[in-house]
Amino acid sequence: MFLLPFTAISNLNYGIRTKKFLKMIRKTIQLLTLFVLTSTVGLNAQERRYTFKKGSYDGVGKWYMQREISHVMGYQGMSWLERDEREKEENTSTLLANMNISKTDDIADIGAGSGYHVFKMADMATAGTIYAVDIQDEMLAAMRDKKLAGKITNVALVKGSEKSINLEPNSVDKVLIVDVYHEMNFPYEMMASIKKAMRADAKLYLIEYRGEDPNVPIKELHKMTEAQAVTEMKALGLELEENTDNLPWQHCMVFVKGG
Ligand SMILES: C[S@@+](CC[C@H](N)C(=O)[O-])C[C@H]1O[C@@H](n2cnc3c(N)ncnc32)[C@H](O)[C@@H]1O
Repeated sequence: MFLLPFTAISNLNYGIRTKKFLKMIRKTIQLLTLFVLTSTVGLNAQERRYTFKKGSYDGVGKWYMQREISHVMGYQGMSWLERDEREKEENTSTLLANMNISKTDDIADIGAGSGYHVFKMADMATAGTIYAVDIQDEMLAAMRDKKLAGKITNVALVKGSEKSINLEPNSVDKVLIVDVYHEMNFPYEMMASIKKAMRADAKLYLIEYRGEDPNVPIKELHKMTEAQAVTEMKALGLELEENTDNLPWQHCMVFVKGG
């Protein structure tokens, strides 16, 4: 007798709990669907940006704006970056003069390698900071040794990722990228990150071996034409201010933020 209403009430409770549970499941499924959909849209945008096919020996089999991306130069090539003939072959002094470095400049050297340009710039921007960004620990370690040996205080070592330079927004007056851009695995994302770190009137010095010149003794994928660089920078709203073009082998292209 007593049990009957009790069972009815407990069935009722059970029914309410089941309803709540089903509602929760429905909500979770909706959220999961939304998550999958948004990440697929993001993924598609990235997939459309890059194409993949069998690549050449020096390339990674990934294309961006009709250009095959090259392999990253390993830290094992450090001695080539530090070779004695480099000043004569590349005229680094002229490159640095092109940059009109002032004492207070904050400068980011992206893909700084063993720091060939970093420490020369640190001597010039004595009241500024040189951010030396690289993705390889061995390169950062080599720069750390130099920094300690020279008791240099205005160089900041920064571990970047394939998609970000890991610098604060609006933190630099100048950006130097020497012989690195063609090997960035995510050039679009990297340039977006670089642009964010550039102050409004900052200048970007993009240095690449001249792709138009067959006499420059460098592998094809490690060179770039001015036209290709301009197209790729334009995608990020960066405009070519001038190509100084006074270096023996490389373009010295100066880009600024577009209006
Ligand atoms: C050919 S070396 C040039 C080094 C230096 N700029 C110089 O001229 O001596 C290229 C460097 O770029 C670095 N690199 C490649 N992709 C990078 C990325 N997405 N972000 C930061 N560094 C990168 C590599 O680790 C390597 O140290």
